[in-house]
Amino acid sequence: MEQGQGLNLEQALDLAARTLSAARYRHTLGVAALAEDVARKHGLNLEKARLAALVHDLAKEIPIEYQLRLAKRWQILQYPEDEQAPAVLHGPLAAYWLKKYYGLQDEEVLAAVAHHTLGYPGMSPLEMLIYSADLVEPNRNFPNVDSLRQALYDNIEQGTLACVEHTLNYLKQGKRMIHPITRLTHEDLQRRFKFGAK
Ligand SMILES: [Fe+2]
Ligand SMILES: [Fe+2]
Repeated sequence: MEQGQGLNLEQALDLAARTLSAARYRHTLGVAALAEDVARKHGLNLEKARLAALVHDLAKEIPIEYQLRLAKRWQILQYPEDEQAPAVLHGPLAAYWLKKYYGLQDEEVLAAVAHHTLGYPGMSPLEMLIYSADLVEPNRNFPNVDSLRQALYDNIEQGTLACVEHTLNYLKQGKRMIHPITRLTHEDLQRRFKFGAK
């Protein structure tokens, strides 16, 4: 990691170990291992992948009412849906917190943390990597998790599109709200894949 990033890998690991429950820490290590491996396959920056993965869920276990209060205070709320489903706030909250209190300056890492739950239109490879690794890390267990993971190794953009579609189906089946950011992410990836495919 370059100097001046504010948080090195060792500190990030230590922060995750101290902040998270055992189960969430295990998930975090799973995301880090997969993100690093997929990053290696696609020639992405391994340290950024590992750093973003280690810190992505740091705000997840803050009580939800407090997350909402912090999001209001830090002006993180963007959509009415953010308040209706505040579980989506922990990504942007962690990114804000890491920048403000830990001096983490790498905007690509911060964006990957901020956008890991809902995705974001125009995601960078690192953002796609963390979004998808969060869903298909080795501790996850649902019917087509292996094929989604393989899709990510084959092509990060197409794999992420498959992960977004999996999530949309899951939300639709459960008749749960679909956040406008996730819809926009889906449209963006569909468009990119359609026009980027050879
Ligand atoms: Fe998360
Ligand atoms: Fe996560």
